[in-house]
Amino acid sequence: MIILAAAVAVLSLAFAVAYLLVKDKKASMGFERNIKDSVIAVRLLRYAKPYYRQFILVGFLLLVSVAYEIAAPLLMGTAEQMITDGAAYGRLLAVVLAVAGTLVVSMAARYYQAVILQRTGQKIISSVREEVFAHTTSLSQSQLNSIPVGKLVTRVTSDVGAISMMFTDIVVNLIKNAVIIVGVLIAMLVLNWRLTLIVMAFTPFVVLFTVIFRKFARRAYRHVKDANTDLNTFLSENLSGMKIIQSFNCEKRKKREFDARNGRLYRAKREQMFVFGIFRPIVRMLYLGSVLMLFFVAAKGYIEPPGFLGVTVTGALVVSFYMYIFRFYSPIQNLAEQFNRLQSAFASAEKVFNLLDLEPDLKDDEGAVELTHVDGKIEFRDVWFRYKEDEWVLRGLSFTAEAGETVAFVGATGAGKTTILSLICRNYDIQKGEILIDGVNIRRYTVASLRRHFGQMLQDVFLFSGTVRSNITLGDDSYSEQDIVDACRYVNADRFIGRLKDGLDEQVRERGNNFSAGQRQLLSFARTVLRKPEIMILDEATANIDTETEILIQESLEKMKNIGTMLIVAHRLSTIRGAGKIIVLEKGQVLESGSHSELMALRGQYWALQNRS
Ligand SMILES: Nc1ncnc2c1ncn2[C@@H]1O[C@H](COP(=O)(O)OP(=O)(O)OP(=O)(O)O)[C@@H](O)[C@H]1O
Ligand SMILES: [Mg+2]
Repeated sequence: MIILAAAVAVLSLAFAVAYLLVKDKKASMGFERNIKDSVIAVRLLRYAKPYYRQFILVGFLLLVSVAYEIAAPLLMGTAEQMITDGAAYGRLLAVVLAVAGTLVVSMAARYYQAVILQRTGQKIISSVREEVFAHTTSLSQSQLNSIPVGKLVTRVTSDVGAISMMFTDIVVNLIKNAVIIVGVLIAMLVLNWRLTLIVMAFTPFVVLFTVIFRKFARRAYRHVKDANTDLNTFLSENLSGMKIIQSFNCEKRKKREFDARNGRLYRAKREQMFVFGIFRPIVRMLYLGSVLMLFFVAAKGYIEPPGFLGVTVTGALVVSFYMYIFRFYSPIQNLAEQFNRLQSAFASAEKVFNLLDLEPDLKDDEGAVELTHVDGKIEFRDVWFRYKEDEWVLRGLSFTAEAGETVAFVGATGAGKTTILSLICRNYDIQKGEILIDGVNIRRYTVASLRRHFGQMLQDVFLFSGTVRSNITLGDDSYSEQDIVDACRYVNADRFIGRLKDGLDEQVRERGNNFSAGQRQLLSFARTVLRKPEIMILDEATANIDTETEILIQESLEKMKNIGTMLIVAHRLSTIRGAGKIIVLEKGQVLESGSHSELMALRGQYWALQNRS
C-alpha cells in the first residue's frame, strides 16, 4: 500500500514537472486553428442531420449495451450472495441465465450499433468527399495553381477519412465511455458509498495523469501528422520526377532526403508509442491500486470486524466492486485516447472546411447568358493582364481575328503567347480592356457555354489513363463509333491508331506515357475535331517530333483550318507561313502583324527571325 502510494506520489511529481517544462509549440507545427471547435462541430452535425433517425437508434442501442456493463456486476454479486446463503440451485441458475441473457442482448446491440454507424458514417463521408472534389473542379486555374496537388489529394482522402472516424466511432465511444463512468460510479455509490470513496481514492490521480497525458499525446499526434504529410508530399513529387532523378544520377541524394523524412516519421511514431506506453501502465497501476484497496478493506473487515473505517464488506460486494472497478478504469483510458483522436479529426475537418470555403474566383457575371451561335470573330481591345501583382504579362494588347481566319502568334519564350490563348476561353480574367467574340464581350456569356465553342489543344497534351477512345471522347457517350473514326481520319490519327494492337481500345497509361509526343498531339486534335468547335486554339508543342509525324500534323492542321477560326501559337516555320495573319509579340505587346510576305517586306523583327533560322 505504502509503496504504491509512494510510487504514485513520485510519478505525479515527475510528470507535473515535465508538463510545466515542455512547451507546446502550437503555431510552429502548422496546427494553428482559426475556426472555433464549436463552429466545426456544428458544421459536422449538419452532415449528420439527414441521418438523425439512425443516430437516435444508435443512442438507444448504446444505452442497451451500457445497461449490461452496469447490470452484470450486480447480478454476479447477487449470485455470490446466493452461494454464501446456500440458495436453491434453480434460483442460482436463473441469475446465471439472466447474466448470459443480458450479455447476448448487449452483444447484439453492439453489433447493430457498429453496423448502422459504419453504414451511415460511410454515406456521410462519401458525400463529403464528393463535395470536396466537385468544389475543387469549380476553382479557377489560378486558385488551383496555388495549392500543391499532394495537398488536395490529402484533403480528399486522409482528411476526409479522419472525419469519418468521428462519425463511426469517436463520438459514440466518447459518449458511451462517459455514460459508463457515470453509471458505474452511481451504481457503486448506491451499493456502498463509503467503500466507493475508499476504493476511488486514486481517482484524482487518474484525472491528473489524464490531463498531463493529453498534452503529450497531442504533441505526439501532431508530430506524426506533420512527418506523414512531409513524407507524402516528398513521395508524390519525386515519384513524378523519377525520370529526372535517374537521368541526372540523383538517386543517392534523393535517398538521403527521403531517409531524413522517413527517420522523422519513425521518431514521431516512437514518441507516440512512448507516450502511450507510459500512460497505459500507469492507469493499470492505479486500477490495481483500487483493487488492492478493495481487497485490503474486505480482508480487514473479515479478520478484525468491524473493519477498516467501519466498513463491513460482504463477498457479494467484493464481486460487484471488483467488476465495477475494471469497468471504471478502462473507459477512462479510452476517453483520454478518444479525446486526442477527436482533436485530430477536428484538425482534419478544419482543413477540409478551409478548402470548401475557398470561393471560386472565376464565376459567371450577373445576368450572363448562354452563348448559342458563334461566327468566330475574336477581338482583343487594349487588354492588360498579369498573373501576379506588378508584373504585367500583356500590356495593352489589341488584335482581331476574322471569322474563319487563321492567326499565328510568334515571339520569344515568355512573350505571353500561351497566356493570350488561355484568356480567350476565360481560364483567367483580364484586369483591363475587353475581349470580344463576334463583337460581344465574353463576360456577357456563361463560362460553360463559352468554352463549349472552343477547341483547346494545349502545349503539353494531357492524356488520362484509360483507352485511346476514352481519351478522344473524354467519357462523353453521345458520339457514335463513326464520329470517332471520322475525327481520327480527319486529323491523320487513324494510321498510327490502326497500327496499335487494340486500335481505339488500346490502353493509355497514366499521363499517356506509352505514346510519343507527336501521337499525343494527334490524339488531342481528334479530341478537338470530334466536338466540331467554331474556334480552335492550338498551342503548338515545342517538343521534337519525328519527320513522318510532323508531316501528318501539318496536313491535319491544314485541314482543320477549314473548320473555323483558328488561333495558333506557332513554333514551326511551316505552320507560321500557312497562317493568314501573323502577329509578332514582344513582352506582351504587338510588335508587327500581317501576312508572311507583308512582314518580310517590312524587314523588321519577323524578317530578322526568319533570316536567323
Ligand atoms: N500560371 C502562371 N503564374 C504566374 N506567371 C505565369 C504563369 N504562366 C505564365 N506566367 C508568366 O507569364 C509570362 C508569359 O508566359 P507564357 O506562358 O504566356 O509565355 P509563352 O509566350 O507561351 O512562352 P513559350 O514560348 O515558352 O511557351 C512568363 O513570364 C511567365 O513567367
Ligand atoms: Mg507557351
